[in-house]
Amino acid sequence: MKKFFIVLAISSVVLACNSGAEGDKKAEEPKAETATAPAPAAPAASSADEEKALELIGSNDCTTCHAIDKKSIGPAYTEVAQKYEATDANIAALVDKVKKGGQGNWGAIPMTPHPDLPEADAKIMIAYILSLRK
Ligand code: HEC
Repeated sequence: MKKFFIVLAISSVVLACNSGAEGDKKAEEPKAETATAPAPAAPAASSADEEKALELIGSNDCTTCHAIDKKSIGPAYTEVAQKYEATDANIAALVDKVKKGGQGNWGAIPMTPHPDLPEADAKIMIAYILSLRK
């Protein structure tokens, strides 16, 4: 009879441990995936210019510091487009900024200069970036 109680005591301890383990398992259940942001609206630039611009942005070092619609080291291109209207004067000023580099319009982090970047290429990229304005 005494033996029976010992077995009962041991099995209730084992049961208690098991239920504890189950509780831990529940706490480790993966959290729901975070929702992804909706894709940005189609840009106004003609598709040929857009293709060329994206090619240039990709083949230069721009993507090191910029993403289309997310802030990185530099501002998102969609934010830049919201700040500047696509006028000739703004395009010329931004081409100059990319060539010379600089800081102060978005914060203390400077953009590196791109002195060897052909002006025509810079213009295509800037015109595309400003076309992202909503
Ligand atoms: C080393 C990181 C870096 C690289 C590489 C870089 N940028 Fe920038 N860019 C920045 C930062 C930082 C700013 C914000 C500067 C400021 O506050 O005035 C910026 C700002 C800009 C702006 C807005 C300028 C203004 O005065 O509002 C444009 C347009 C831009 N970048 C385009 C480009 C293009 C095109 C390229 C590729 C040729 C490029 N960037 C490469 C970091 C970078």
